[in-house]
Formats: sequence, C-alpha cells, structure tokens
Amino acid sequence: MMQQSHIPVMLGEVLDVFSSNLKPLSSFVDCTLGAAGHASAIIQSHPELKLFIGMDVDPLALRMARSRINAAISHSHPHPNFQALTFVKNFRHIRSLLTQVDHISSGVDGILMDLGMSSMQVNNPARGFSVLANGPLDMRMDPQASLKAEDILNSWPDSEVGRILRDYGEERNWRLLQNKIVQARLQGGLHSTGELVDVIRSATLGTKGGRQGWIKTATRVFQALRIAVNDELKTLGDSLHACFDCLAPGGRLAVISFHSLEDRIVKQAFLKIIGEEVRNSIRKVEGVEDEKELWIRQTIQGSNGTILTKRPITPSEKEEGFNRRSRSAKLRVIQKL
Ligand SMILES: C[S@@+](CC[C@H](N)C(=O)[O-])C[C@H]1O[C@@H](n2cnc3c(N)ncnc32)[C@H](O)[C@@H]1O
Repeated sequence: MMQQSHIPVMLGEVLDVFSSNLKPLSSFVDCTLGAAGHASAIIQSHPELKLFIGMDVDPLALRMARSRINAAISHSHPHPNFQALTFVKNFRHIRSLLTQVDHISSGVDGILMDLGMSSMQVNNPARGFSVLANGPLDMRMDPQASLKAEDILNSWPDSEVGRILRDYGEERNWRLLQNKIVQARLQGGLHSTGELVDVIRSATLGTKGGRQGWIKTATRVFQALRIAVNDELKTLGDSLHACFDCLAPGGRLAVISFHSLEDRIVKQAFLKIIGEEVRNSIRKVEGVEDEKELWIRQTIQGSNGTILTKRPITPSEKEEGFNRRSRSAKLRVIQKL
C-alpha cells in the first residue's frame, strides 16, 4: 500500500531550540522517532553530536526510522565517535533505558517529544486510527500491547465508555454515544472502524453540521479511544518529569503536542518541574537581550529550570498551509539549570 510519508512538524523551530550556538549538543534523545524526520535533521545539523538515541513503541516506525537515520549519517560528517542507537521502547522508560547506556550518567543535552501518531500510522487502515478508512478497531501504537479499542467498546463498563468520550474526546454528546455503543453490544458488538462510524453517524443524524458534523464527532471519539488504548495522558504526565531528570545541566526538553488535553499537561508539568515558587517572568526584547535566540520571547524562571516558552510556539501560516496536521501543534520548551 502507498503510504504518504510523514512531514515533521515545526522542524525549523525545533532546530532553533537545539541550535548549537549556545551549548554544543553532544547527546540527544528523540522519544518519538516516527519516520525520523526531526531526528535526521538534528543529526545532519549537529556534527558535534556523539550520541543519538531514538525510541518508538512502534517497531514498523523504527524500521523506517533506522534506514532514514543511516541515510542522514551517510550524508553528513558525524563526529568520529558518533553512535546512533534505536530502541522499540515506550518513552515512559527513558530513565531506565538511559541508565543502560554508557557515558551519559551526567545527563543528555537535548530531548524531543513529538506526540501523537505519525502519518504512516494514520494512513494505514489496518491500524484502525483513521475515521475515513475501514479497518479493525485496534488503535494500538505498540502492536504488542494487549488493550485494543474493540475491547473498550465491547466490554468496558458503560460508565467508563462514557467517561473517556467526555474526558478524552471532550464530546458533548457523550451520553447518547455511550448508549448507542452499549446498545450495539446486544447485536454482537463493534468490530470495525466502519461499524463504529455508522453508530456515530446514527447518533449525529439531524444534528447541525451535516457531513462535517459527524466527521468532527467521529474525530473526537477516535481521539478518546486512542488516548485510552495507549494510556497517553498518564504516560505523558509521568514521562515529562522523567525526561527532565535525564537532562544534563543546561539541557533542553522540547515537546510538541496536538490537542488541548496534552498541551495542558505539558504546561502544568513544566511549571511544577521548574519549582513550586516561580520567581519571575522575564520579558525578552528581540535582538537586544539575546541576539542568538530570537525565538525566545517570554520565559519563566524557577529554582530548577527555566520555561523558555511562556506561551507555546505555533506553526507559521505557511506551514499550516502545506501540512494540515501541523494546525493544532504547540511547542513548549524547558531548560534545566
Ligand atoms: C508524530 S510521530 C513522530 C514523528 C517524528 N518526529 C518524525 O519527524 O518523523 C509520533 C511517534 O511517537 C510514537 N509514540 C507515541 N507514543 C509513544 C510512547 N509513549 N513511547 C514511544 N513512542 C511513542 C508513535 O508510535 C509515533 O511513531
């Protein structure tokens, strides 16, 4: 099957965050390797890099990433001691993974998380992520994980189904959808994304918005299921603290999120990480305080680190035009003291 390749979101902005103008990047972890779009660009822009570590829960993604990384290495002039290691691993295990890797006990200089799914995952109907293509009700990013969307829809308690639609999908009609899903169990349950979409369409019949109406509802329902199947929000909250612990002094963690639930977690975790007492908020004047880092506008200084993006960075209009997926993206960056 032809798969549209993944376009890395806010690539220029991510490269600016890890620009070696201030601190050379000798070690870097990409927690969400995907198609290695960001990873390849980082490797090519940082000849001083000695250690690159890439992680992804999806072995298919990792296979593609590995060949892209090899190509990036062959097109650049890496450090003579450069090593690129890739692991099929959930980023929630970053701390234990890094303790197994030699010579980074003092921490890594940069960590990137680019959350959510890759285009390869969404565009493969067999993964069950797509609202518009029929496939199994799977939605696992890690194909070894035991829980599938089908299990939630057909056997979780009614109230739990409703809760995830409300809390993870922010869906106003959650109660009606919950009832329709539970009713479908009496006819043998739901076993394909097409059957789920039919249920959603029947629940949105007669509501405002026509086709856009049911597609928007279906998108929210699919988001809710995906978050639950992959335990995305808890994993993110726990992992942000673990990632910060793994940074070297002066190291940076950059996180790209794609919906408000994720962004809220990143924003709140960053405030907590830098220390309960936020000491001050500095207004940086472009080109005066720090000519090298014009992307930094307002920072928040805490006792453990600095939030370099008081407000998140969002994609340019140009990027939103050529990459629809970027439209909801928000980039937040934190630096360890
Ligand atoms: C948006 S894509 C990353 C794309 C990548 N930055 C690029 O430029 O090609 C997100 C990737 O993160 C992976 N992923 C999601 N949650 C993960 C987790 N908890 N641990 C490790 N990988 C995860 C997904 O399998 C997917 O391949």
